[in-house]
Amino acid sequence: HHIAVIGAPFSKGQKWQGVEHGPAAIRSAGLIERLSSIGCNVYDVGDLNFVQVPDDELYNNTVKYPRTVGLACQRLAKEVNKVIGAGHTCVTLGGDHSLALGSISGHAQHYPDLCVIWVDAHADINTPLTTSSGNLHGQPVSFLVKELQDKVPLIPGFSWTKPCISTSDIVYIGLRDLDPAEQFILKKYNITYYSMRQIDRIGIQKVMERTFDQLLGRRQRPIHLSFDIDAFDPTLAPATGTPVIGGLTYREGIYITEEIHNTGMLSALDLVEVNPILGATSDEVKSTASLAVDVVASCLGQTRECAHRIIDELP
Ligand code: ARG
Ligand code: MN
Ligand code: MN
Ligand code: MN
Repeated sequence: HHIAVIGAPFSKGQKWQGVEHGPAAIRSAGLIERLSSIGCNVYDVGDLNFVQVPDDELYNNTVKYPRTVGLACQRLAKEVNKVIGAGHTCVTLGGDHSLALGSISGHAQHYPDLCVIWVDAHADINTPLTTSSGNLHGQPVSFLVKELQDKVPLIPGFSWTKPCISTSDIVYIGLRDLDPAEQFILKKYNITYYSMRQIDRIGIQKVMERTFDQLLGRRQRPIHLSFDIDAFDPTLAPATGTPVIGGLTYREGIYITEEIHNTGMLSALDLVEVNPILGATSDEVKSTASLAVDVVASCLGQTRECAHRIIDELP
């Protein structure tokens, strides 16, 4: 397993200070050592340098830092494309979820037939015209979906983007806080989502079976997992900017990532929205970051049966 880890200390897609320290917090919780201990060959790219574009005025009196977010995503897309092209599985550590526009775009440049599993309390599919917060971390999916493009205006900083997935190429898991326009989009465009209610009804095992039936049933293809830590219940992941009560349990979250690993098709993943400044105590920060490490490690082969490299002979 050749893994590349890219730190993406970026926060201008939302309003809180601190999510730019996510990569450092996840590294401090022992990510690289953990991946090595389960037998991954890790290439740590380090943290990307993002610049704030001067005079980055609001788009349409609402959308914040469009040029700064657009440029950061363009930079990340280039790096993701490079490491995927070099044959690595790519791990992007955020930073806020606007970054997924960059990571998925870069991934799709190399693998145009990829599919996306989006694990989140939120759908992040507002358009620059439907957003009420103006935060671009609530909008990345709208730029990625082909069928939505007549509803997505050209905004400054985003002229490089190109929609790369269809409505049937993405599945959401964990949703429980949709804006009215997002709910409308999911229904109208028939986008598959397993909300917390659906998980309660049918269980996480059926959710994963149906997810893979849809995405991999016809043909094997690369998976991009975009994992927002706020998909978990806030008791497990308190250090994040937009917590929502009633989220995934530890066991549901890890079952999702174990099943994704078992497909053998995971090609890139984002772990976003860990904000060490928003933890009420250092224990809250540590548990959130260590949960992030467990998510990434279990995507890459750590199992609950044996959290070590598997040996093939007794001494
Ligand atoms: N739907 C809200 C918005 O548009 C919240 C988005 C939260 N997104 C996230 N990546 N945590 O602002
Ligand atoms: Mn979220
Ligand atoms: Mn999100
Ligand atoms: Mn493996």
